[in-house]
Amino acid sequence: MGIFDKNKFDSVKTDWSTHWDFFKPLNNEFNFTVDAAADAENCKVERYWDEQTDGLKQDWNNEIVWCNPPYGRNVPEWLKKGQEAAKNGGTSVFLIPARTNTIWFHKLCLAADEVRFVKGRPKFYNYANEDKEATHGLPVPLCLVIYKPNSNGCKIGTYDWRK
Ligand SMILES: C[S@@+](CC[C@H](N)C(=O)[O-])C[C@H]1O[C@@H](n2cnc3c(N)ncnc32)[C@H](O)[C@@H]1O
Repeated sequence: MGIFDKNKFDSVKTDWSTHWDFFKPLNNEFNFTVDAAADAENCKVERYWDEQTDGLKQDWNNEIVWCNPPYGRNVPEWLKKGQEAAKNGGTSVFLIPARTNTIWFHKLCLAADEVRFVKGRPKFYNYANEDKEATHGLPVPLCLVIYKPNSNGCKIGTYDWRK
């Protein structure tokens, strides 16, 4: 068993869906053009990329990307995509585990425009089990990592979706 409780957040499972109450204030702020890691049921933006179209292979330049990627080994790869896109006009907002002791967190997240540590334990939807209620709180701290063009260094703050 990895860091996730198998009964709740299986590390193999990748389609935990962000709560609308958590997402909406961010969408009001950023006005996302695409959800980079989604499927037809859990997409947060009308335009989305799924496993088939592969968000990692798409052009993120000049997009405003929402990305809650699968929380596996590829998280740094997704972050790199956002970091590269910011050099070419792309903005991206990631919701990821705040694994602050990892090399990738220091290299990639602390080089972003902003990191917002998520207050509390937001609930997620579990569509795979036809669970339309958001009842599952991840047992790991989460953060938002934001890449923007022309960044002046990394701001650190809080995201409290309960306000
Ligand atoms: C943690 S869920 C996020 C769901 C949703 N976008 C949200 O924020 O609520 C990750 C989603 O990414 C999808 N996914 C996995 N690999 C992908 C890829 N290479 N490109 C696009 N989506 C992918 C999974 O099928 C899953 O639906």
